[in-house]
Amino acid sequence: MNKFKLISIFLSVSILLAFVVFVGWKLIPSPVPIEEVFPGKVWAKTVAQLPDLQGVGAPRAENCGKCHSEIYKEWKTSTHSQALSDLQFQAELSKTSSPKWICLNCHIPVQNQRENIVVSLNHGDYFQPIEIPNPGFDPVMQKEAVTCATCHVRVDAKGASYVIGANGKTSPPHPVKIDANALRNRCYDCHNETYELNESLVCSFQTGGELAEASKHFSEKTCVNCHLPSVQRSFVIPALNKPKRESHKHAFIGGGVPKKFELYKEQIPGGYKPGLVLVGWEKKDSEIIVRIQNQNAGHYLPSADPERHLKLELVWLDKNRKEVAKDKLRYGQDWEWSPKAKKVADNRLKPKEIRDWKVKIANEEAVSVVLRVYHVRLTNSTSDYVEKYTIGAPKEFEDKIKELKKHYPHSSLVLESEYNLKSKKVFNTTIGDLFKLNETRRGE
Ligand code: HEC
Ligand code: HEC
Ligand code: HEC
Ligand code: HEC
Ligand code: HEC
Repeated sequence: MNKFKLISIFLSVSILLAFVVFVGWKLIPSPVPIEEVFPGKVWAKTVAQLPDLQGVGAPRAENCGKCHSEIYKEWKTSTHSQALSDLQFQAELSKTSSPKWICLNCHIPVQNQRENIVVSLNHGDYFQPIEIPNPGFDPVMQKEAVTCATCHVRVDAKGASYVIGANGKTSPPHPVKIDANALRNRCYDCHNETYELNESLVCSFQTGGELAEASKHFSEKTCVNCHLPSVQRSFVIPALNKPKRESHKHAFIGGGVPKKFELYKEQIPGGYKPGLVLVGWEKKDSEIIVRIQNQNAGHYLPSADPERHLKLELVWLDKNRKEVAKDKLRYGQDWEWSPKAKKVADNRLKPKEIRDWKVKIANEEAVSVVLRVYHVRLTNSTSDYVEKYTIGAPKEFEDKIKELKKHYPHSSLVLESEYNLKSKKVFNTTIGDLFKLNETRRGE
C-alpha cells in the first residue's frame, strides 16, 4: 500500500469519527437553564403558574369582568386581548424559523395559558426547548392573550394568588397588594427590548427609552398617563355600591390601526389621538410649506414595530377637483433583513419635533391641495407575501390569512386637510369622519 493511500484512509476514518462524535453529542440531551442563556430577560420566562384567586376563582379576564365590567369591555377591544388571534402573528408563528415559545412569552405570557412548560434549552439552543406538559393549562385563558393577570396577578411566598393594585383604601373581595410602580412599569418588560437572537431575528422595540429621552418635554411621564386615560367612575358594577374614584380606561389605544375592522368604532371612545398634528399651511412664492409636529406621542412617531411608518401625500386639484399631481413623503425606519438584519435609515419624528415639508406648487392648473397622512402598520407587499406563502397556521386562522387584506386592517387615514391656494382657506376633515372612512378602506 502506498503512503498516499494510507493517509487518505486515515483522513476518511478521522472525518467519519469526528462526525459520529459530533452527531452523538447533539443527540445526547444536555439541558441548559433558560436564565443561563438569557440572563435577566423577563420575557425569557412566563409569569409563574397562578392558582385560583380567593374570591374570584380562575384568574381569567372573563372572571375579573364579572365585577370590573367596564374595564373588561374596554380591554376586550384592545390590541392586548388580540395578541394571540392577531392574523399576522399567527402567520409569523407558523414559520419554521420562529422560536415559538419566545414569541408566546410576550403574546400569551402567563404559564396557565401554556399547554407546555419550557423547563430548559437543549445545548442552550433556543430552537430546542425542552418541554413538559402543563397540568394547570387553561385553554380559555390562553385565548385572552395579554390578559388582566399579565399585569395584575402574582403568586406570593405561600403559593397564593393576589392582585397588584395602585390605589389602596379600596375594599375588594380578593387579596390585594399595592405596588403602583411595579404595575405602571410593567409595560417596559415587553415594549422596551432590543435583542438580536441571531443574524436575522431581531426584536426591536425602544418605546420606553424614547420616552425617557423625551420626558423633559412632557408632564405625562409614564405610559399610563397617555395610554390608560383617567375617568371618574366606580371600579366595579353598580350592584356592588362602591364610590366613584379615579379609574383608567383599559382600551390601550395606540396608532389607531386596530386588529379587526369592527374595532375601528372603538378607537376614539377608547382615547385615540393622532401623534401628528398639522401646525399650519403657508404659501411662499411658488412653494407650499406644510408644518407638522409630533405633538402628542411621548416617543418617536411612529414607535415600536419597525414596519410602522407614516405615509404623507399632497394631492393637487384643479378647478374641477381633478387630481393634477401628487407628492409623497415617508417617515419611518428602513431595515435590511438579509443577509443580516440591520437598520439603515430612520427619519421618525422625535417627541414635540416640528418639520416643514416644502413642496413646489405643482402647476398652473392647481387651485387647491389636500394633505393626507396614513399610519401604515403593514405594507401591501408584506401582506401579498403573507397571503401567498403562509402554510401550517391553525385552521381557524388559515382561511383569513389567505385573504389578509379583507380581514386585517393595514393602515388608517389619520389626518386630512385641504388648502385653497387663492383664498388660503383651510378645511380639516374631523377625526370622527376619518375613522368612519377607515372602516371601509382596505390594504395599505
Ligand atoms: C367578585 C367581584 C370581583 C372580582 C371577580 C374581581 N374584583 Fe377586583 N375589585 C373588586 C372590588 C369590590 C374592588 C374594590 C373597589 C372599591 O373599593 O372601590 C376591587 C378592586 C380591584 C383593584 C384595585 C385595588 C386597589 O386598591 O388598587 C384591582 C387592580 C382589581 N380589583 C383587579 C382585579 C382583577 C385583575 C380581577 C380578576 C383576576 C378582579 N379584580 C376580580 C371586586 C372584584
Ligand atoms: C419582548 C416581548 C416580545 C417578544 C419576545 C415578541 N413580541 Fe411580538 N410584539 C411585542 C410588542 C410589544 C408588540 C407591539 C408592537 C407594536 O404595536 O408596534 C408586538 C407586536 C407583534 C406583531 C404585530 C405587529 C404590528 O405591526 O402590529 C406581530 C406580528 C408579532 N409581534 C410577532 C412576533 C413574533 C413572530 C415573535 C417571535 C419571533 C414575537 N412577536 C416576539 C412584543 C414581543
Ligand atoms: C407581556 C407583554 C406586554 C406587556 C407587559 C404590555 N404590553 Fe402592550 N402590547 C404587547 C403586545 C404583544 C402587543 C401587540 C399585540 C399585537 O399587535 O398582536 C401590545 C400592544 C400595545 C399597544 C397597541 C399598539 C397599537 O397601535 O395597536 C399599546 C398602546 C400598548 N401595548 C401599551 C402598553 C402599556 C401602556 C403597557 C403597560 C401598562 C403595556 N402595553 C404592557 C405586549 C405587552
Ligand atoms: C398591560 C397591563 C394591564 C392589563 C392587561 C390590565 N391592566 Fe388594569 N391596570 C393597569 C395599570 C398600569 C393600572 C393602574 C393605573 C394607575 O393607577 O396608575 C391598572 C388599574 C386597574 C384597576 C384599578 C382602577 C383603575 O381603573 O385604575 C382595576 C380595577 C384594573 N386595572 C382591572 C383590570 C382588569 C379587570 C383587567 C382585564 C380585563 C386589567 N386591569 C388589565 C395595567 C393593566
Ligand atoms: C405623552 C403621551 C404618550 C406617552 C407618555 C406614551 N405614549 Fe405611546 N402613543 C401616544 C400617542 C399619541 C400615540 C399614537 C401615535 C400615532 O399617531 O401613531 C402612541 C402610540 C403608541 C404605540 C403604537 C405605535 C405608534 O407609534 O403609533 C405604542 C406601542 C405605544 N404608544 C406604547 C407606549 C408605551 C409602552 C409607552 C411608555 C413607555 C408610551 N407609549 C408612552 C402617546 C404617548
